[in-house]
Amino acid sequence: MQQSLTLSSLTLFGSIGEVGPRFPRDCPLKVARPHLVAIFAQSLDGKIAADRRQRPSFTSPEDYHHLEIQAARQQAVIMGAATLRAYGTSLRIKDPELLHQRVVQGLPPQPLTIICSASGHIPRDLPFFRQPLTRWLWTTPTGAQAWPPGSGFEEVWVAPNWDLPARLLRLKTLGIERVGILGGGRLLGAFLQAQALDELWVTLAPLLLSGCPDPPASIEGWQRLGSPPRLQLLECRQGSGELFLHYQIDWQDP
Ligand SMILES: NC(=O)c1ccc[n+]([C@@H]2O[C@H](COP(=O)([O-])OP(=O)(O)OC[C@H]3O[C@@H](n4cnc5c(N)ncnc54)[C@H](OP(=O)(O)O)[C@@H]3O)[C@@H](O)[C@H]2O)c1
Repeated sequence: MQQSLTLSSLTLFGSIGEVGPRFPRDCPLKVARPHLVAIFAQSLDGKIAADRRQRPSFTSPEDYHHLEIQAARQQAVIMGAATLRAYGTSLRIKDPELLHQRVVQGLPPQPLTIICSASGHIPRDLPFFRQPLTRWLWTTPTGAQAWPPGSGFEEVWVAPNWDLPARLLRLKTLGIERVGILGGGRLLGAFLQAQALDELWVTLAPLLLSGCPDPPASIEGWQRLGSPPRLQLLECRQGSGELFLHYQIDWQDP
């Protein structure tokens, strides 16, 4: 059923307005949101594509399967609009064994797919809208004008500012405990700015992309005033040409 979640609904959990309980400031963010895992592939020099407007051409079938495995563990995945515009599609789990495992766990075949777009500028003819997925949009009042009920997304969550903690708390209250972040780098930067990331899966691919005309970085647009977060290596697997690195983030201030 199509539903538009307005600002007043979000501020029930947010920091604006006087309606309902405020976001629990004395409650650590980690317990007030789902567990968040970023999954992406980058070149050795930290770039995720040769051209910001295009999907990466360097990733291997082995990396795609790794991405599918990690995404299959999530209840929802979140993607930036620029990544959607570049790919035209979102990730769809096709591996029969992974689909079976989700059924056994009582999960729907595909994770909920949430697209983040402030502008709402998403071409309606993208194959994404024909994929067998449940699609939600996180946007602004301006962006929401392009997506009235019944026009492509089952739910549209609207807030004038990004208000990521409120959105994540709202997800958690809906029972969504595990979320994958599929990129790109600007979206991941926004999550890091909010200290909203617990694990990173980085595929290190054997090429250098920083000499290309407009290569986006794996993480962009965030600033940290205190000490940079430290990461703990949980796992390192060697593929045929790539390294699959799994880290946990420690947000503790010194
Ligand atoms: N190698 C990999 O694993 C991998 C993975 C993903 C993506 N990529 C590549 O990465 C590139 C795209 O990455 P990107 O960093 O340029 O873009 P992005 O993070 O995919 O998307 C950025 C867009 O997301 C929306 N957005 C992000 N943060 C927001 C915020 N805080 N508030 C409101 N809206 C927000 C905005 O959409 P609007 O512009 O619509 O307002 C913004 O322009 C593409 O080349 C793609 O192929 C590679």
